[in-house]
Amino acid sequence: MISTSLEQRIRDHSAHIAIIGQGYVGLPLATEFARVGFTVSGIDNDPDRVTTLNMGRSCTPDLTDKDLQSLIRAGKYAATTDFSVLQKSDVVIICVPTPLRKSKDPDISYVVAAGTEVATRFHPGQLVVLESTTYPETTEELLLPMFEPKGAKVGEDLFLAFSPERIDPGNPTFRVGDIPKIVGGVTAECTRLTAALYRQIVPKVREVSSPKVAELAKLYENVFRNVNIALANEFAQMCRRLNVNSKEVIDAAATKPFGFMPFYPGPGIGGHCIPIDPLYLSWKLRLDGYESRFIALADDINRSMPHMVVEMVTQALNTQRRSVNGAHIIALGVAYKKGVGDLRESPALEVMELLRARGAEVSYADPHVPSITFEGHLLKAIEPTDAVLGTADCVVILTDHAEFDYPRTVAASRLVIDTRNATFGLPAPAGRVVRL
Ligand SMILES: NC(=O)c1ccc[n+]([C@@H]2O[C@H](COP(=O)([O-])OP(=O)(O)OC[C@H]3O[C@@H](n4cnc5c(N)ncnc54)[C@H](O)[C@@H]3O)[C@@H](O)[C@H]2O)c1
Repeated sequence: MISTSLEQRIRDHSAHIAIIGQGYVGLPLATEFARVGFTVSGIDNDPDRVTTLNMGRSCTPDLTDKDLQSLIRAGKYAATTDFSVLQKSDVVIICVPTPLRKSKDPDISYVVAAGTEVATRFHPGQLVVLESTTYPETTEELLLPMFEPKGAKVGEDLFLAFSPERIDPGNPTFRVGDIPKIVGGVTAECTRLTAALYRQIVPKVREVSSPKVAELAKLYENVFRNVNIALANEFAQMCRRLNVNSKEVIDAAATKPFGFMPFYPGPGIGGHCIPIDPLYLSWKLRLDGYESRFIALADDINRSMPHMVVEMVTQALNTQRRSVNGAHIIALGVAYKKGVGDLRESPALEVMELLRARGAEVSYADPHVPSITFEGHLLKAIEPTDAVLGTADCVVILTDHAEFDYPRTVAASRLVIDTRNATFGLPAPAGRVVRL
């Protein structure tokens, strides 16, 4: 029986695995399978990325160059742009981007492109798993029909499932091998084989009744984060009006051992997931005439935060009888979160643009981002020395990287706007440090 021999190859790690998309999600996943003994091809359509990876240079904080090099040397991992490796693959996992279009509708074109490559090379006995975050029913309504012209029979010679990736790039506590997987196959056999696959690299697998449940579980996780961050962002604005620091309140509330989970305010939300994924769900429901109110409100509040930060800068400069127009402002951090160099959807960039539009001269420091393209020009990161900080009219902490020296920043700067409460607990002379 086809599924028995596939299962055997999964269990003895002789199955060949191809992972399409070698970014923040696909690369750590590929190397996790390679580490336990599978031979893995990492397919990516970006030739520069493939060359870099094959030279042993990682593109994610979750994999060191040394670990990548040892897997390449052992013949367990190789990156390629050549989709013909799919012909020998027993397992294919799709980890391509799922961004939004300008209209804020899902841009599913990367999944369609990758799915087409897989379907045209389908051979009986293949297990295909979609990991990209997407709207409910993508697996069954978009991917499955692609295999029909090949005469594939799902559950018999094609095994198809959705299993969302839940990685948090740069998080040293929870790496890909520590995070339980959710698996929803089109048939029970699809679920069983996919669960057997992931059990080779993660300790816990939750099998659910359909791909749709798995797709929705991922979306609900990220809606939950988005909505709770929005609540923290609005709560911070209330605290500011009441002259209370929001972090002190949230930390106090978080001492309750049940029924509470702390979320903290910031300059807005970024990255490839939290600002985007909820809109995949609301888009799908809108097709059915349903408007998701929580998602819309949370999106509205979170997207207003960069404007709120600019307002804080304006007010604080005003208190010192200065204006944004003509001020030299240093942004500390441009990545969307600490510990990574990921600029996707980063609210820091919007804050910088808004300040620039009001006439400020803006520079930035970020140990993870050596340069950015800002308003069409290359802008290089500066070194935030005491002398540099001291000459700025205002320093805005936008990403709370561990590498920044916050006591020194407070001591050396004329004005600090702290959108991450990174200076919380430090002596803050009135009017010189303003926290969200
Ligand atoms: N980054 C995260 O923290 C995270 C966490 C969980 C889930 N996800 C989801 O995982 C998916 C991938 O995200 P990511 O952060 O890894 O993206 P990424 O941009 O880091 O990597 C995607 C890679 O896919 C490649 N690619 C695009 N189209 C391709 C194609 N047709 N064929 C081959 N390669 C192709 C790109 O060149 C790129 O290297 C998205 O759906 C995302 O929502 C991301």
